[in-house]
Amino acid sequence: MVARRVKRYFQWLLPDSCKLLPLKRFFWKRHIPFFMNDKPVAVVTGASRGIGRSIAIGLASEGYDIAAIARSTDSEGMEILSKEVAQAGSHFFPIGLDISCTTCHKEVVSNILERYGRIDILVNNAGVAPLQRSDVLEMSEESYDRLMNINLKGPVFFAQKVAREMLWLKEHIESYKPVIVFITSVSAVLTSTNRAEYCISKAGLSMASSVLADRLSCEGILVYEVRPGIIETDMTVRIKDKYDKLIQEGLVPQKRWGMPDDIAKAVASLARGDWAFSTGTIFEISGGLNIHKL
Ligand SMILES: NC(=O)c1ccc[n+]([C@@H]2O[C@H](COP(=O)([O-])OP(=O)(O)OC[C@H]3O[C@@H](n4cnc5c(N)ncnc54)[C@H](OP(=O)(O)O)[C@@H]3O)[C@@H](O)[C@H]2O)c1
Repeated sequence: MVARRVKRYFQWLLPDSCKLLPLKRFFWKRHIPFFMNDKPVAVVTGASRGIGRSIAIGLASEGYDIAAIARSTDSEGMEILSKEVAQAGSHFFPIGLDISCTTCHKEVVSNILERYGRIDILVNNAGVAPLQRSDVLEMSEESYDRLMNINLKGPVFFAQKVAREMLWLKEHIESYKPVIVFITSVSAVLTSTNRAEYCISKAGLSMASSVLADRLSCEGILVYEVRPGIIETDMTVRIKDKYDKLIQEGLVPQKRWGMPDDIAKAVASLARGDWAFSTGTIFEISGGLNIHKL
């Protein structure tokens, strides 16, 4: 307990600067061996529902202990997830965080490291659609800012914090193969004039994934973008009837909705190391929306 307080004190004292990393390491060295998890650890944001929950369950089945992030830990979704993770024989650590609160990130990452001592994969999945769809010419600044903060700024700075810790962990864990995954959307490249702020946020996140893949490639941290198509979740429930029809009419070449599990399988494959020579790759899981047709 005292040791943790001393560590926290020094963490607070030291800004997150690479220049000060050696000093930070000096203090950390004394604690890491006492709480280093044997199993690899996955941090999944937006884990309480939909795609994020499937990803967390998939990674638990792959042998990862799970740190699951959503705005609230006290939800039916988190309860279901905790049971599924336990069934897979993995440990579950629920964390309440609004990803747009960048000043909260440091404490959350510290809490995960205190609990597990390591982060092997970060899946930046949390994201929202606009509260109301409106034409780009009517788009409000309020909606734009909300989307940018949750879908872009939050995930970028959270990934930055985790990546810095991964750099250090890399030197201290044998056969440590850290991975960062960004869940973007086909909307990173396909326009929707009635939810421009969503498209813009996902296009930005796609570039963030590329930039981090570039920067971290020499450090042995692999970064991937997973780009879902139209997936059946709470996010798409309001437009279900419209898209049922469009999908049957051929909008999606494979003529079906994507399921959260389709995305979870792709992330599990990245976590397993099946794509170890492919950092920076975009994996589009969209039933063929990526096919350019005449
Ligand atoms: N569904 C699709 O068709 C589709 C297509 C392409 C891309 N995507 C992307 O896939 C990701 C997951 O989407 P989904 O369809 O699974 O959505 P969803 O069912 O609405 O789930 C969203 C998740 O994000 C969490 N979340 C929302 N706002 C948050 C915040 N400010 N801070 C932390 N967590 C937050 C939610 O948890 P709480 O509400 O409990 O906080 C929930 O766990 C999103 O990034 C989305 O843009 C979805």
